[in-house]
Amino acid sequence: MSHTRAATRTALVVAALAMPLASTASADTFQSVMQGLAKDMNRVQSALFIEDFATATEAAEAIADHPKPSLGERRRVLSAVGNRVSEFRGMDQQVHDTAEQLADAAREQDLDRAIRYHGRLVTECIACHSAFRDKVSSDLSRLSPDNAPER
Ligand code: HEC
Repeated sequence: MSHTRAATRTALVVAALAMPLASTASADTFQSVMQGLAKDMNRVQSALFIEDFATATEAAEAIADHPKPSLGERRRVLSAVGNRVSEFRGMDQQVHDTAEQLADAAREQDLDRAIRYHGRLVTECIACHSAFRDKVSSDLSRLSPDNAPER
């Protein structure tokens, strides 16, 4: 199962990278993707408080399947991350995996497990911020979209 998922993801990444720029013009900035994650985290939490498992499941799946930033944004973030790309990707992968587990727990209406995975997710989000946010933010502002050539 997780092999299939990993293979699917790899295929998606390859497909996304192979796409011409025009069709990746989702124009999602890295920041807007992050803001979406924060919204979905809040939705999960609010749903768990009222045991609305359907919403918790849906929001957790949205975290697991969050949109990718545009190709230009991905390049920029990865160049800011430098030689720690695998660490960065690993942290991203952990968030995906935990979000899947949270979705499973919510789907099974297992409140205790869902709360545990929610807590783990918060920790994992913040771990990446502690490790990378300053680095990416300063590099991103130096290379802000305003300074980037038209795509
Ligand atoms: C792989 C690393 C990584 C993971 C995992 C990660 N983030 Fe982030 N996040 C970042 C970086 C880097 C920034 C700073 C981006 C910038 O300043 O341009 C950021 C910024 C943010 C911001 C601020 C956006 C803004 O408007 O400036 C929010 C909110 C956020 N993340 C939420 C989350 C949530 C919620 C999760 C977990 C579900 C999460 N992040 C997981 C790397 C990560």
